[in-house]
Amino acid sequence: LLGYVGSAGVGAAAGAGAVLAVGAEDAAPASSAPAPAAPGRTIEPWGAHQPGVAAPQAAVSELVALDLLPDVDREALGRLMRLWTGDIEALAAGRGAPGDPAPWLSQPASDLTITVGVGPGACRPGLFGAGPPGFGDVPPMRHDRLQERWSGGDLAVLVAGRDGTTVAHAVRRLVADAAPFARARWRQVGSWNPTDPTGRPQTGRNLFGQVDGSGNPQPGTPLFDATVWVREGRWAGGSSLVVRCIRMDLDTWDELTRDEQERSVGRTLADGAPLTGGPELHDLDLEARSQGRLVVPADAHARRAHPSLHGGRRMFRKGANYTREVETGQGVEVESGLVFLAFQADLADQFVPVQQALDESDQLNDWTTAIGSATFAVLPGFEQGSWLGEQLLT
Ligand code: HEM
Repeated sequence: LLGYVGSAGVGAAAGAGAVLAVGAEDAAPASSAPAPAAPGRTIEPWGAHQPGVAAPQAAVSELVALDLLPDVDREALGRLMRLWTGDIEALAAGRGAPGDPAPWLSQPASDLTITVGVGPGACRPGLFGAGPPGFGDVPPMRHDRLQERWSGGDLAVLVAGRDGTTVAHAVRRLVADAAPFARARWRQVGSWNPTDPTGRPQTGRNLFGQVDGSGNPQPGTPLFDATVWVREGRWAGGSSLVVRCIRMDLDTWDELTRDEQERSVGRTLADGAPLTGGPELHDLDLEARSQGRLVVPADAHARRAHPSLHGGRRMFRKGANYTREVETGQGVEVESGLVFLAFQADLADQFVPVQQALDESDQLNDWTTAIGSATFAVLPGFEQGSWLGEQLLT
């Protein structure tokens, strides 16, 4: 809430102060007060791609995976997709969805995006047909400790926005409207800090305190488009999403020196700049040495994941920090981590080799453990008058 007020700008804060300073009956009619600038954006849901993929990181993200009910066929999927399309158009505009019992919870300028994906189980004949090139599950990794309750799913909706209430309401509508076709399997919610205290966009930090996302291809560039979007075939305009729920051991991480923390990745904690010099968005110099020693260690996370070690293969990463209580059998513990999201055109070609290299050697493995894994083929975008998944289901 504090972040929301802060990023709403001085105008909104002053307005709130003025209302508090006078009695309600003395207050000027609201209509005569200058309207503060809208803090967020209304993001149109139409286009060649679902807009939530390339949209800036949102403050709140909620991801729900659903399982299809046994008797759902292609025709029923079409009905669900048409329903969801209507919901998405209304919710994105800040209107109540059709039949919404609480339309007041929808408001425009909420940076709301809703992204729909399809799991491997629904990418088969009679449903969506084959998925995009390279789509499938992430193969098992040595360091994984996967739990069923955070893994898998036939469908996913990723709802992102600037406040948790708007996001939770949108999720509730989408899940309720899906009830005749699918049942929620798991749900994860997390936060990010995509703006600095003055409201300027920033990369944001994970719960280790690291600036996370600096090495990403930038949306709007040819590199981003080549990394993320399927180019040809039925899924053209879509993408593949990997969701890894990664537990982070904050207590043992805190025991490291700052130097150890920075060398585990290869970037500074202060602003995410490469340890080899230059500003945050500069690339790492993987050859740089100081007193004969590699500045970015051989097993530093960003070296092991670096595109130059993977034939230029990249992904576009987003994330949401989570903290939740978990029942351990010996009582309730607090668990923290990252709902890690990676978008790429070809999951097997771009994501899997990087994940395998990290599983083989990565300093961060000492403090991070994947406890959930799921993949979803992100549907291509839809134009006004059309519906989500139409080209795949008709
Ligand atoms: C880079 C943290 C998991 C792939 C980074 C950076 C940080 C970071 C701080 C440097 C800043 C940046 O470029 O964004 C973490 C944490 C993780 C995690 C805390 C787990 C909790 C993963 C996973 C993958 C991955 C699972 C892929 C399988 C990458 C890539 C880069 C990167 C490709 C960019 C390398 C470059 O171009 O310099 N990560 N990461 N990360 N990470 Fe991770």
